[in-house]
Amino acid sequence: MQFDFSYYNPTRIHFGKDSLAKLKDELSQYPETVLLTYGKTAIKKSGLYDKVVAILSEAGKTIVELSGVMPNPTYEKMMEGARLVKEHQVGLILAVGGGSVIDCAKGISVSAYCDEDPFEKYWVNYEPVSNKIVPVASILTMVGTGSEMNGGSVITHEQQKNKAGRVFDPEVYPKFSILNPEYTFTVPQYQMVSGVFDTMSHLMEQYFSDFGVNTTDYLIEGLLKSSIDNLKVALDKPDDYEARSNLMWNATLALNTMTGLSKTQDWQVHMIEHQLGAYTDCAHGMGLAAISLPYYRHIYSHGIDKFVRFANVIWNIPSDGQSKEAIAQAGIDALEKFMQDCSIVTSIQELGATREMLPKIAESTIIIGNGYKKISNDEVLEILEECF
Ligand code: NZQ
Ligand code: ZN
Repeated sequence: MQFDFSYYNPTRIHFGKDSLAKLKDELSQYPETVLLTYGKTAIKKSGLYDKVVAILSEAGKTIVELSGVMPNPTYEKMMEGARLVKEHQVGLILAVGGGSVIDCAKGISVSAYCDEDPFEKYWVNYEPVSNKIVPVASILTMVGTGSEMNGGSVITHEQQKNKAGRVFDPEVYPKFSILNPEYTFTVPQYQMVSGVFDTMSHLMEQYFSDFGVNTTDYLIEGLLKSSIDNLKVALDKPDDYEARSNLMWNATLALNTMTGLSKTQDWQVHMIEHQLGAYTDCAHGMGLAAISLPYYRHIYSHGIDKFVRFANVIWNIPSDGQSKEAIAQAGIDALEKFMQDCSIVTSIQELGATREMLPKIAESTIIIGNGYKKISNDEVLEILEECF
């Protein structure tokens, strides 16, 4: 097993109940004008908006606002922000919200000074960023994507029916992110569960690639077990600070590139979800959940030893002389049972998909081919039909 990598992550994390107190010092390093960007209603209802505006004002900042960033942020919204940045010579984009708001902020950061169509250049052709990048920072309010400590930016081009993900270099990562688990107490149960499944999917899609049991796999197993245990606690008691803290930090670690080191990484479930999302606008984690069971049942026999280990380690299913096949299947069954217990969606029809959409979703899905089995677009259609 080859274990060669370079690792660099420049995001400074301030974690805990008092972490917002760090904002004022952080702000002193950036020019006067800040683009404050956020979603629809959550941060105004919770009072976080007022607190952030007060700190920005105390720090002498001029505030420009981009509100109403929607889940699955659109190209139009991103370009609205890009125009504001250029017009007001914004020196810092401060995203307050979940993955959608942070992803949109990163998109604005690379698009504001791009003279071409940024979507085509960066999200379709994956070109390196050749224009000025505006610094981004975040205050996280919804857990799951890991966007607070990575270069990911997923933008939906509605006319093109393309939900496209791009992972930018560290210059685009948030310069700092403030993580206070208390801010997540108000996230509705549906969104909380969706976010935790997103974390689990990030972990599984890195785990189910390569065979070696190395430090990366042990890390993933720990984070998966912690996500499973703490979701159960948070479902019973949404304001359990310890459970919410563990879920928050698990999500960050699950996609800050640490848990991908030395792995080829599958990511096919994400590729299918992105196109499902382009057609249905579903909650990201719920889309992943619906696709995961038929996907893993479709490919497990090509990575049987890892699926046996998944059953043994994550779900405590003993081998007991049973066939590898039986143990691997029992592991996926245990995942399904956990999903049912947590009211996680397993049907894409429930997420707004119609039968007519399925061939279009299937044929527009990017095939990665880094997991145990390279599937075809026809197999994507079979998987979609199974979870319809
Ligand atoms: O709009 P508001 O009012 O803010 O409400 C949001 C939104 O409706 C609400 N919410 C957020 N914080 C809340 C809250 N409600 C009450 N209390 C709070 N404290 O939650 C809803 C969903 O928010 P959203 O940001 O869309 O969720 P999530 O964090 O799951 O982000 C999903 C987006 O991230 C992309 C997804 O594809 C999707 O577009 N991803 C980004 C990744 C990355 N950057 O690395 C990787 C992921 O795999 C993912 O693809
Ligand atoms: Zn995800």
